[in-house]
Amino acid sequence: MLLAQISDLHIKRPGALAYRRVDTGAALARCVAALNALEPRPDAVIMTGDLVDQGDPEQYAHLKHLLAPLEIPYFLLVGNHDERAALRAAFPERVELHSGGEFVHYAVDVGPLRVIALDSLVPGRSAGTLCDARLAWLATQLDAARGKPTVVALHHPPFACGIGHMDALRLDQAAADRLAALVARHPNVERVICGHVHRPMFVRFGGTIASAVPAPAHQVRLDLREDAPSAFVMEAPAYALHRYDPATGIVTHHAYVDQADGPYPFYEPEGALID
Ligand SMILES: [Fe+2]
Repeated sequence: MLLAQISDLHIKRPGALAYRRVDTGAALARCVAALNALEPRPDAVIMTGDLVDQGDPEQYAHLKHLLAPLEIPYFLLVGNHDERAALRAAFPERVELHSGGEFVHYAVDVGPLRVIALDSLVPGRSAGTLCDARLAWLATQLDAARGKPTVVALHHPPFACGIGHMDALRLDQAAADRLAALVARHPNVERVICGHVHRPMFVRFGGTIASAVPAPAHQVRLDLREDAPSAFVMEAPAYALHRYDPATGIVTHHAYVDQADGPYPFYEPEGALID
């Protein structure tokens, strides 16, 4: 079972560049082509928020157009750049986006995995939270998933990563503590997966592993100085492939959108290691 995760697409209107530099639409088109070309093909793609750049209906229309060629079922989460009503209006047929009342949260099965998608959005703010209502909903979902391998997905990482300007925008500590306590009571949670930080990260969290993924377009600069200025770099576009099997659990592979040089053989046709 393969679950691909992409995050932080930041789609603009057609022709517009993010931060006057980044063609996020072209980047997503390349990412969709790379996902379609995977062999074996993922069972689903989860997109962990910041789907568009300003929560604008035109941007969601462009997102939908760019995702149309994706030949794999996909699931959408909201990030701080998203707007719930505009997302729902652009995807009226996606029942899971409409089932959570005020919040865009839902649980779906992808093969043997239960995926619980959270909504950590606070309208008008870059940082995220999980309020009483959202945590209560999560508790109910986790109880319903007991014994089932489960992935909890949310946009905002519930941990500090050391990149100061991003840590100022993370899931608030009170919510992170309550999330960790809930997850710790459910050892069937294989992963807590996030976006927002535009970088690959892994950390122990609530007795499981929390992780974050790079973006298909721009990445946040790896700068661990406390006063690191907010900046992005055009490092290689990438995503995660979470491979589940019952014996191992989830192994997360870091995968690149662009084809690298190769592949080249290690061995001669007659079997000797190439010297
Ligand atoms: Fe974000």
